[in-house]
Formats: sequence, structure tokens, C-alpha cells
Amino acid sequence: MTTAPRACIIGHPVKHSRSPLIHGFWLETLGLPGSYGREDVAPDAAEAFIRDLAGSGYVGGNVTMPHKEAAFRAVARRTARAEALGAVNTVWYRDGELWGDNTDIVGFLANLDEGAPGWDAKLKKAVVLGAGGASVAIVAGLIERGAERILVANRTVERAEELSARFGSAVQGRPWPPSPDDLAGADLLVNTTSRGMGGKDDLDLDLSPLPAHAVVTDAVYVPLRTGLLRDAAARGLRTVDGLGMLLHQAVPGFEHWFGRRPAVTPDLRRLIEADL
Ligand code: ATR
Repeated sequence: MTTAPRACIIGHPVKHSRSPLIHGFWLETLGLPGSYGREDVAPDAAEAFIRDLAGSGYVGGNVTMPHKEAAFRAVARRTARAEALGAVNTVWYRDGELWGDNTDIVGFLANLDEGAPGWDAKLKKAVVLGAGGASVAIVAGLIERGAERILVANRTVERAEELSARFGSAVQGRPWPPSPDDLAGADLLVNTTSRGMGGKDDLDLDLSPLPAHAVVTDAVYVPLRTGLLRDAAARGLRTVDGLGMLLHQAVPGFEHWFGRRPAVTPDLRRLIEADL
């Protein structure tokens, strides 16, 4: 008798994670056997827990804060994207070995592909606000799509400069806030800072130096329309909210664990929006 595959989200805390809702929706709509639960694992136990995930009855899972580096250490094999980031958010077994990927990169890229088709056709200059975990994945994604110049503006400028050291001279650290010259001629502006989260402390940048074709996106998705996105839309710029990044990053894991590639549909979006 084969048992239905079980996957989970591993983090600390995990009670606010929307991953169970996303994967539960796909299991139900695709009519597949399986389940997706939550595992709140303390930091000192995370690496061992992930290393022996099968021992807890799981075929794989997602890993969230603060365990993405522990997951990177715990897996036996890693994708090139996981190697580039030093962080793993999706694990699964193949031929008995535990693999790790970082799907934040494809989540970010697929969200822009869907929300602003053609955004990367002539991508030369991008400005990224913030230099934390989300920023690293986004910078890696922009390099994959051929961005020639990526300015990373961060309150702690040393963290932005670390990204430059990590990814090479196409990435340049900038002090906070970005200057009008930094924004001038940028094809893309991305917020990865927590400014605007929960509707508080919205960014108040002067967006007038951005060209008319610029796309503005925000990794913050609570609220969906941040102050930054409202300001950009008021200037007539194309905007993409951050919810799609969360939905698209979930796709590869589901396919590994449950054997079918799920779709990010308007119904799924509505379900998660109702929960925000
Ligand atoms: P994540 O994994 O979501 O990127 P993080 O690693 O904690 O989270 O990074 C949060 C980012 O938001 C950082 O770039 C942080 O700037 P510092 O590196 O200087 O801490 C940025 N940030 C947080 N609060 C901010 C504020 N009030 N103004 C500007 N940047 C802020």
C-alpha cells in the first residue's frame, strides 16, 4: 500500500504562513491525494529536522524564516540557484537524496512576466531598494534576465556593497535613499524593504526621475497596493504587486512532491487575497 505524499512548511514561527492554503487549494482542485502541513521547528533543531525530513514522514517541503540557511546546509544536493544564493526554500527527494532549490528567483521573475509582459525585453538598469534576503534573490533574478546595471540602495550601505562583492560589478551599492540620478533611466524599480508593510511607514520617494516605460514592483503584499505602487500608478507607470511572487515561488515544490505542475489562477489569487 502506498501512502499519500505529505509535505510541509518549516519555519519559526509558521502559523501565519499562507503556504498551506496555496498547496491545499492545488491538491483539492487537481484532485490529488496528499497533504501539506506546518512544522514550527526551533532554530537549534532545524538543520537536523530538515536533514532527516523523511524520518518525519515527509516527501519534502518549503523552508521559511529563519531556516533557509540551515536548509542550505542540510540538503545533500543543491540547484545552481540555491548555490548562488546560499539559501534554500524548497526541498524534495530524488533517487533517495535530499535536494534543495531557491524558488524565490523564479517566483519574482514569473510574477513580473505575468504582470508586466515584456518588462525585460530591453532591461538595462534596475534599482533595488533593500539588501536583505528577498533582495539577494531578486538581484540574482535580474542578472539571469540580463540586467546590465543594478543599483542596490540600502539604509545599511555595507549590506548593499556585500551584494556587489557577491554578484560582481554589474551590482553597485548606493546609500539610502536613492538619489534622483540613481532613479533616472531605470527600467525597473523594486522595493524589497519592509517599508509599506502593514500599511505603515510607506516609502515616499520622488518617482519623477523614472522614465515613462519604467515598471515598479513591490515585494510587500500586505497591503496589495502599497504607497509606492499607488504613487507609481498615479504617474502612469506599470505596477506589479508582490502577491504573485509568493504564489509563483510555490509552483516548483508542488510539482516535485505531488507530481503535477499547478497553475497560478485568478481563483487562487482571490483565495489568498481574502486571507490577507
Ligand atoms: P527580507 O528577508 O524580507 O529581505 P531583511 O533581511 O530583514 O528581510 O531585510 C529587510 C530590508 O528592509 C533591509 O534592506 C533593511 O535595511 P537594513 O539592511 O539597513 O536593515 C530594510 N529596511 C527595514 N526597515 C527600513 C526602514 N525604515 N527604512 C529603510 N530600509 C529599511
